[in-house]
Amino acid sequence: MPSLPALLALLFICWAPLQAAASSWWSLAMSPVQRPEMFIIGAQPVCSQLPGLSAGQRKLCQLYQEHMAYIGEGARTGIRECQHQFRQRRWNCSTVDDASVFGRVLQIGSRETAFTYAVSAAGVVNAISRACREGELSTCGCSRAARPKDLPRDWLWGGCGDNVDYGYRFAKEFVDAREREKNFAKGSEEQGRVLMNLQNNEAGRRAVYKTADVACKCHGVSGSCSLKTCWLQLAEFRKVGDQLKEKYDSAAAMRITRRGKLELVNSRFKPPTPEDLVYVDPSPDYCLRDESTGSLGTRGRLCNKTSEGLDGCALMCCGRGYDQFKSVRTERCHCRFHWCCFVRCKKCTQVVDQFVCK
Ligand SMILES: *[C@@H]1O[C@H](CO)[C@@H](O)[C@H](O)[C@H]1NC(C)=O
Ligand SMILES: *[C@@H]1O[C@H](CO)[C@@H](O)[C@H](O)[C@H]1NC(C)=O
Repeated sequence: MPSLPALLALLFICWAPLQAAASSWWSLAMSPVQRPEMFIIGAQPVCSQLPGLSAGQRKLCQLYQEHMAYIGEGARTGIRECQHQFRQRRWNCSTVDDASVFGRVLQIGSRETAFTYAVSAAGVVNAISRACREGELSTCGCSRAARPKDLPRDWLWGGCGDNVDYGYRFAKEFVDAREREKNFAKGSEEQGRVLMNLQNNEAGRRAVYKTADVACKCHGVSGSCSLKTCWLQLAEFRKVGDQLKEKYDSAAAMRITRRGKLELVNSRFKPPTPEDLVYVDPSPDYCLRDESTGSLGTRGRLCNKTSEGLDGCALMCCGRGYDQFKSVRTERCHCRFHWCCFVRCKKCTQVVDQFVCK
């Protein structure tokens, strides 16, 4: 019979890979505590009940309770955008049912992790900036951005704009708090991850900042547009997602130096700017389910038989092959415009072939 210590050691070895992934503020996206009225002034316990906050984030929560619902909304926006951008890839940004939100897969410092940090930081800037404009927060209001120099002289500057400056600053404080609290040895792998996360958070925030633009409204006699009022307005979040996806494609591979700085693995490449994404680990192939890396694998995923891209069965199924089945699709068709004013359609059903990875 094996000795007790040996049994315990065995137990430990078996359990270790399954220990929970670190929880994160992203869980605010899933948390039911989303209504501002839940944050009764001075109701401090709320902050200690929110899952996933680091010590510093908990303090910020106590100081800025009314912001928390918008941080949750920002995280949700970020996650939704991530799932849209990656819908046709092996790793599709799916969430798991615990406070880590994405599971263990983000413990690898991969490109995908870089994108996830950036897009969720961007989501927070987006949500807070807008909440300021809408007058939902007591510590900020409309944007006070300076009038752009190239705005035509006779246009008015001063509509109530999205407060991107405040959103940027608050998101930096809150999202980066968890990284800044960590105190790893200089030059260690863990410190490399902290630097990676901080860089990607910043790239995400800047993507919102850079895509914000001037919007204007016409006034004047019967729509003559002789007078215009203009303000600063956030771009659609899709545009932020598209931009970060481009940054994902061109992300820079880095490593930590002994002196505790990130440097390019390949020094012939251009060093990343603060708007670029960086990563420190190669990506797993995400082909098979693997508890230790958090990869869900692609078994059962729909794929496109004729595509040669990442959504094609060859790449999606990693060469394992696919099963075919028929499914019935119902669509609106033969639509007719009736005077006036409605559209009447018929329902058409169509049998289509679908393919799923083995
Ligand atoms: C994402 O991938 C997971 C795991 O392979 C799968 O269960 C889920 O249905 C996928 N989601 C979408 C939208 O394809
Ligand atoms: C499959 O891929 C082909 C080629 O890229 C594309 O034309 C087609 O629309 C795709 N089909 C589906 C169902 O997405």
